[in-house]
Amino acid sequence: MESTRIAALLREGEAGDQVAVAGWVRTRRDSKQGFSFIELNDGSCMANLQIVVDADVPGYADVIGDVSTGASLRVAGELKESPGAKQRFELHAASLQLIGTADPETYPLQKKRHSFEFLREIAHLRSRTNTFGAIARVRNTVSRAIHDFFQSQGFLNIQTPIITTSDCEGAGEMFTVTTLLRESSVQNPVSGGGRDRTSLDTGHSTPDFANDFFGKRASLTVSGQLEAEIYATSLGPVYTFGPTFRAENSHTPRHLAEFWMVEPEVPFCDLEGDMQLAEQFIKSIVGVCLDECRDDMEFFNQRIEKTVLDTLHNILEHDFRHISYTEAMAIVTATDRDWEYPVTWGDNLQAEHERFLTEEHFRQPIIVFDYPRAIKPFYMYCNDDGKTVRAMDVLVPRVGEIIGGSQREHRLGQLDVRLEECGLDPAEYWWYRDLRRYGSVPHSGFGLGLERMLLLLTGMQNIRDVIPFPRTPNHAEF
Ligand code: 4AD
Ligand code: MG
Repeated sequence: MESTRIAALLREGEAGDQVAVAGWVRTRRDSKQGFSFIELNDGSCMANLQIVVDADVPGYADVIGDVSTGASLRVAGELKESPGAKQRFELHAASLQLIGTADPETYPLQKKRHSFEFLREIAHLRSRTNTFGAIARVRNTVSRAIHDFFQSQGFLNIQTPIITTSDCEGAGEMFTVTTLLRESSVQNPVSGGGRDRTSLDTGHSTPDFANDFFGKRASLTVSGQLEAEIYATSLGPVYTFGPTFRAENSHTPRHLAEFWMVEPEVPFCDLEGDMQLAEQFIKSIVGVCLDECRDDMEFFNQRIEKTVLDTLHNILEHDFRHISYTEAMAIVTATDRDWEYPVTWGDNLQAEHERFLTEEHFRQPIIVFDYPRAIKPFYMYCNDDGKTVRAMDVLVPRVGEIIGGSQREHRLGQLDVRLEECGLDPAEYWWYRDLRRYGSVPHSGFGLGLERMLLLLTGMQNIRDVIPFPRTPNHAEF
């Protein structure tokens, strides 16, 4: 008999059905009357299926002792109405097949609650816990909902390169991609052996990138935006959704060195249109998760952060507030508080200010727009005031910045002024400048970090816990 996923059984099963399930044991209890209860989870949903195994099930006495937390099982039997109200059904086993044991002496996941720090050290097993199972399912739903949202509006999905030779954000936070580091065939002076030493075999202290694989310095992308602009200004609205990389040395619960970003880019669209799209987009993802991941969302609300559902409903019910950077800064500086980073006009808003604005002052998502030109990248549209650019950040409670976007500078003359201001070589941006020479149009876009979105949706505190395999300074296991 083929096995059925537990989620499908609980949804569509009927008492009397003969079924088989396969999964991992969460707990086992033995009754004095000589039968056992097993809670089995197969990852398809939060709920475990309760399995009742009578002592007369073939092989019971031989295997039941090894049916411990973490062991894998296949069970066939009859679905019966459950007397305990917790669930509609339980499975009365007719056969029990122990597939893989998990020695209770060494299996790290026992029934007690484990700290997230501990679970991070066993990222190969943490997906077997309720929390990480729920995160994986919600992440899957969000991922699909992102495609659905843009596809339903006629956006074209494009794949922008992961290896690139332009620094989109101009922040110099790129990981270099090189083949200049090679295993050297010289003898190791210590061991005397060959081919066990790695060195820069360029012969120079600074690598000679002209001799590198691509003939110039290449890096892992920090954003697919610049390439997305190429397609948006030929084909209409597009989006790219993929991994991005930042070599910033940020040890915060909001930063990863590798994260997933979705970036729409829309031609014939100004900052106003961009802000509207960002709001619709966030609301759509929130709505889908509340709708489709009820049990998981309920779990987050009960066990992880009791304000999650309220925050999400609040997001759906209100229009996002739009305030200019100048207004935002005025509110922050007028607030009597010991900021860790005191700021004035011209400075970047820090996480503490962003969270204050959205969590305490406005108590709802806000969009801050028109930032000082000196703190933003070269590609943003310059306002007539000469001081600000058409940038926008969406800030949400508990997370802070979740989206960063802008209207792009589509006037060649202005772009050149900005490239110079930012110390960038126009020759390196020759193709980007061409887009402004031939059929240039106002266009806008934004980037949403998938993991920041998941922090909002799940109430998890640390971004390392909403990506399966987090990469941060000093951490890249697996
Ligand atoms: O604000 P950012 O740097 O904007 C861009 O990269 C633009 N090129 C996007 C565009 O206009 N197409 O990054 C966008 C978003 C942030 O708002 C945040 O959600 C996320 O990406 N993000 C990070 N998430 C996790 N770890 C990091 N180190 C992140 N850096 C940015
Ligand atoms: Mg940003």
